[in-house]
Amino acid sequence: MLILGIETSCDETAAAVVEDGQHILSNIIASQVKFHEPYGGVVPEIASRKHIEVINQVVVSAINEAGITLNDIEAIAVTYGPGLVGALLVGVSFAKALAYGRRLPLIPINHLEAHIYAVYLEYPQINLPAIALVVSGGHTEMILVKELGVYESLGRTKDDAIGEAYDKVAKWLGLGYPGGPIIDQLAITGNREAIRFPRPTIKHSKYDFSYSGLKTAVINYTKTTHHPLPVEDIAASFQEAAVDALVSKVMNAVQDMAAVSIILGGGVAANSRLREQLNAKTTGKDIALYIPSIVLCTDNAAMIAGLGFHKYNAGNRSDLSLDVNSNLKWEKWGEKWGKMGTARKMGTAPYF
Ligand code: KG4
Ligand code: ZN
Repeated sequence: MLILGIETSCDETAAAVVEDGQHILSNIIASQVKFHEPYGGVVPEIASRKHIEVINQVVVSAINEAGITLNDIEAIAVTYGPGLVGALLVGVSFAKALAYGRRLPLIPINHLEAHIYAVYLEYPQINLPAIALVVSGGHTEMILVKELGVYESLGRTKDDAIGEAYDKVAKWLGLGYPGGPIIDQLAITGNREAIRFPRPTIKHSKYDFSYSGLKTAVINYTKTTHHPLPVEDIAASFQEAAVDALVSKVMNAVQDMAAVSIILGGGVAANSRLREQLNAKTTGKDIALYIPSIVLCTDNAAMIAGLGFHKYNAGNRSDLSLDVNSNLKWEKWGEKWGKMGTARKMGTAPYF
């Protein structure tokens, strides 16, 4: 079954064609990074406008590159949340129009669930339960994957996402955008023990994070220290604090939940120190670590189309009243879209 996936939740306009939830025939991503660069972060209004400008071309490219025609598409899967409301609306409106025009089923996808599914595109066999860590500019989420489609949210950031903290710290230090790769690179030559920044954890909250305090600590350090250490040391020390909290909480969760795998997703999965630390903690133990290729870690539509196949088989489809949900929560899934395989069927429009 050929599914077209559409993703516009943040600053990437993406479309992909995936066969049977597994074989990626095309995966087109139009990044807007250069338009947001001058502002040091994603500007929601710009994101929506740029999505509108390119979405048609991105979808056409995805179909062409797959070597098929629109007639071959059997369903459309689209991200409807969480994300930027205006940005999500572009993808959802486009998907609805196409579904209506072609009389195709419309499958609503939770962006975070798709980030977890991304790993299945490369590793179809993952032993569960797993702890999934979705870390990007917009998310810092720790999720227990009981089975594909059955999740429990363990914790999340209470303020800034980890990637957002990287971007804001880099902006403050005048390093450029996006800050994650720049800080990661600088940190290689820095001393990660030079400055002991606070770990972004929350008292009495075992699996939640708070990255705003760490960002403020770095800003305060540069403001109040007369002779600050070289920027490499600041970068390495910041990174150590940022990664330390993630790794220790994930390992605690693995133990508490008797998990046998760790799944990483989101743009921060590219971070070299995070990978190094997770590798070190899992090597020689009965815990498998799964990190998809970077193109599948960052926002893409292959993960939307891939997950769409399973949602379709589970009967999860929407009529044309589908709306975006920018704050879509993990807890809501079970209620609204049900588990894979046992989901209740959503209303189907008369014209399907
Ligand atoms: O998944 P993504 O492309 O977009 C969303 O935010 O949804 O992730 C982008 C984020 C940015 O905040 C960027 O600074 C961060 O991922 N990032 C990194 C690294 N590469 C990208 N953060 C830390 N280390 C990296 N190597
Ligand atoms: Zn994302």
